[in-house]
Amino acid sequence: MLVFAKIKSVQKKLKSLKNGTTIGFVPTMGALHEGHLSLVEKAKKENDIVVVSIFVNPTQFDNVEDLINYPKTIDKDLELLKSIFCDIVFTPTPEEIYANDIQSQSFDFDGLEFQMEGKFREGHFNGVGTIVERLFEIVKPHKAYFGEKDFQQIQIIRKMAEKRNLPVQIISCPIHRENDGLAMSSRNIRLTKEQRADAPFIYETLNKAKIQFGTKNASEVLKCVENEFKNHPLFTLEYFEIADEDTLLPVETKNSTKKYRAFIAIFAGKVRLIDNISL
Ligand code: PAF
Repeated sequence: MLVFAKIKSVQKKLKSLKNGTTIGFVPTMGALHEGHLSLVEKAKKENDIVVVSIFVNPTQFDNVEDLINYPKTIDKDLELLKSIFCDIVFTPTPEEIYANDIQSQSFDFDGLEFQMEGKFREGHFNGVGTIVERLFEIVKPHKAYFGEKDFQQIQIIRKMAEKRNLPVQIISCPIHRENDGLAMSSRNIRLTKEQRADAPFIYETLNKAKIQFGTKNASEVLKCVENEFKNHPLFTLEYFEIADEDTLLPVETKNSTKKYRAFIAIFAGKVRLIDNISL
């Protein structure tokens, strides 16, 4: 496994590959878990070589404390990637990516950016668009792999690829869950023992909402979810929303020709967790 921190070195290696070599790319912010590894495994099956980037992107954090506390486990990450025969890891510094100007570009994602996460994390999707486009420019992947836990992020990256004619196929992969249902996330290691023990409550709530949306409309389901959280000693609900999968616009009632998802964001103390479920 080759590890490069410099853009020039990773590009030199990628340019030296035989013509026609297909590149699968898994962008990450490190603190890797089985969910990330499953993306790498899928990328390995579908491409000649796999590049993983590990970069905690400062421009997508709307909260400095969250950026500082984002888990960083680079040695363990490299061990894990080596153990599954990843080919290339790209580990740039913020200066390497942004030079002296750590700023986002401004994107128009046709309104997808104003829903859910966009309402609560100002500038987040401009930061994501900026780094993902930059990484695509550097790695020039044929296919890029993203996990559906960040479903809105996938729709936004698809939109960016479509609007900017980027020659890359965006592949979305199902959420990886712990045995008790908690969606795998790099942030889970920041949960206290008590928070972790109670965290399956998030997915349980989504499953209940899924059943309720069979007979109730979205605002009734929202009331039930709010009630579930009202008395929860450890978790605070930030938002719960039922939305159209394609437009991400909130919906009130079911229409059998459309696909819907329920999305949730909660706080466990200072740790923010998100999850979603197809309805
Ligand atoms: O999902 C993530 O880990 C990040 O948002 C991404 C796509 C690697 C961009 O920094």
